[in-house]
Amino acid sequence: MTMRRWPLAALLCCLVLPAWAGPPAGSPPPGLAPERMAAYARSHMVAAANPLAAAAGRTILQAGGSAVDAAIAVQMVLTLVEPQSSGIGGGAFLLHWSAAGRELRTYDGRETAPAAAGPNLFLGADGRPLRFMDAVVGGLSVGVPGAVRMLEAAHRAHGRLPWADLFQPAIALARDGFAISPRLAATLQDDAALRADPAAGPYFYQPDGSPKPAGTLLANPALAATLQAIATGGADALHTGPIAQDIVAAVAGAARPGSMTLADLVGYRPQVRDAVCVPYRLWRVCGMGPPSSGGVAIAQVLGMVERHDLTAAGPASPDAWHLLLEASRLAFADRDRYVADPDRVPLPPGLLDRRYLADRGGLIRTGESLGRATAGEPPGKRADFAPDRSLEIPATSHMVIVDRDGNAVSMTTTIEGPFGSKLMVRGFLLNNELTDFSFVPEADGRPVANRVEGGKRPRSSMSPTMVFDRDGRLVMALGSPGGARIIGYTLKALVAMLDWDLDPQRAVSLPNLLNRNGPTELEMTPGAGPLADGLRRLGHEVQPMTAPSGLQAIRLLPGGGLVGGADPRREGVAVGD
Ligand code: DON
Repeated sequence: MTMRRWPLAALLCCLVLPAWAGPPAGSPPPGLAPERMAAYARSHMVAAANPLAAAAGRTILQAGGSAVDAAIAVQMVLTLVEPQSSGIGGGAFLLHWSAAGRELRTYDGRETAPAAAGPNLFLGADGRPLRFMDAVVGGLSVGVPGAVRMLEAAHRAHGRLPWADLFQPAIALARDGFAISPRLAATLQDDAALRADPAAGPYFYQPDGSPKPAGTLLANPALAATLQAIATGGADALHTGPIAQDIVAAVAGAARPGSMTLADLVGYRPQVRDAVCVPYRLWRVCGMGPPSSGGVAIAQVLGMVERHDLTAAGPASPDAWHLLLEASRLAFADRDRYVADPDRVPLPPGLLDRRYLADRGGLIRTGESLGRATAGEPPGKRADFAPDRSLEIPATSHMVIVDRDGNAVSMTTTIEGPFGSKLMVRGFLLNNELTDFSFVPEADGRPVANRVEGGKRPRSSMSPTMVFDRDGRLVMALGSPGGARIIGYTLKALVAMLDWDLDPQRAVSLPNLLNRNGPTELEMTPGAGPLADGLRRLGHEVQPMTAPSGLQAIRLLPGGGLVGGADPRREGVAVGD
C-alpha cells in the first residue's frame, strides 16, 4: 500500500478516538507551512530529516526489518546526504520501545573526551577560554565517536535483518551519487574551514572555491568503502585498524591537534541507561537521562506545570506560554548547575522529586516573569557546582521510527555543529562534540559539573522522547535538533500534542517559543505579534529568533495506525505504509 497524506479530520471520521474527542481549545497561532498535512500509515512509519534517508528506512521496514534495523539504514544514509548534521563520526542517543517485552531502553552513544584531555582543554595560553569557532575547527574538539558502537549494541538486542544488509542503501547512494539538497547547499556557503580541509574541500566545493550547488550529483566512493568495511567488520572496522588509524592521524595532524589515541577508539563503550520518566496528566513521559540534560529538563517543566490547566487556555494564550516559559527558565537554572556525565557527576536524586518540583513551580508568578532564575537546592545534592555557560549551535538530526510490530525508535544524532570539526576522514566528518563541555572549568572558586575530563561525556541537550498511556502503551515519539533550544522545541511539540490535541504535523509546525533562563525567544511568524505583546505585558523580554528546529513526531492511534509529522523548517518527511 502506498503512503497517503490525510488531514487529521479525515482520520477522525473513521476511527473512534476517545483521547482526541474535540478540537484544541483556543485557536493556535498559525503554524509554518499550513498546507502541510500529517502523514498516515497503517503498519509502519519513518520520520527523518531527509527524504532519501527516510526512504531507506522505509525499504528496510517493508522488508520486515525492525525499528532499529531501519534506524541504522537511516543513519548511514544521513551520513552521506546530511553530512552537516550527523554521521558515523559522531554520537547519538536512542530510545527503544520493545512492544512485545513492554520495555523501554535508552542507549547512550555519546562521544567521550580522549583520556589525555583535561579541564584546560579549551583555555588559551593566557588562561582565557578560546573563541568558540577557534575551538571547533581542528582536532581539539573531536570526541571519540560513539554512534556506530551504540547502533551495533542496539542491533544485537533488537535487530531482525542482518547488519550488513542495513548498509546497502547508503553504499549504493555513496557509490552512484545523490543530488545535493538545498539545505546542504545553503550550509556550504561561507564555510572557509570546511573548504580548507584537504578531503572536504574538493568534495564539497568547485575548483573556483564556490560550493557545489543544489542538485549536483555527488558520489562519495571513500564513504562507500568505509561503510562496506563496517558492514562486513562491524563497529570494529571503525574503532580498530586502518580507519581508526586515519582518524587518529587526522586529529593529531590538524592545525589545532587533539590527543585522541587508538586506545581511546578501541576503548569506547556505549551505555544502556535508565530512562528519565515522569507522570504527566494521563500519561507517562520518558526521555534520555544524563549525559543529556534534555530528559531531566523536560520532566522538570512538566512536573512544574502539571497543576495548571493548559488546555483551557490554549496555544494562543500568553498565560499558558508564560507558565511553560517560566518553568523552563527554572529547569535551565538547574540544568546549568547539576547536569553532566552521570559516570563522573551523579545527578542529585531529588531533582525530579515531586515535592521539589512543586516548590520550584510555586516560584512561578502568574502575572509577572521571574526574570533570571537561580538553581534550586534539590534533596540529595552532594556537591556544589558553578553554573555552566557552554554554547551550542545548529546542526544535528532526529528520527522517529515505528515498525509493523509496534517497536519504536526515537533517536537524536549529531556531529555537533555544521560539518563538525571540519575534518573529513575516509568520506565522513569528525564531530566537534567536545565543545559541548564547559570551556571554563571553574567559576567563583567552584568546579563546573560539565568541565572537561579524560574519558568523560560532554553534557547534551538532545531530547529523544516517548509518551505512554495509563496502560503502558506507547502513544507518541518525538525529538528535534537545535542545540540547547532542542529542549524548548521538543517541549512545544509535546505540549501541543498532549494538552492542545494538535496532530503531529500541526504540533511541529507551531511557531517555536522558548526560554533558556534568559530572554524569551520567539519565532516571528505572521500571527505571532499578539503572543509577543501578551508576553511583554507579563514582563518577558521577547527576542525574535530564527528557529531551525527539525522536529519529527509520530503518534500511534489507539485503534491501530500511525500519524506522522516532519518539521517544515528543514527537509524532513514522514513516510510509511
Ligand atoms: O548534544 C547536543 O546537545 C548538541 N551537540 C546538539 C547540537 C545541535 O543540536 C545543533 N543543532 N541544531
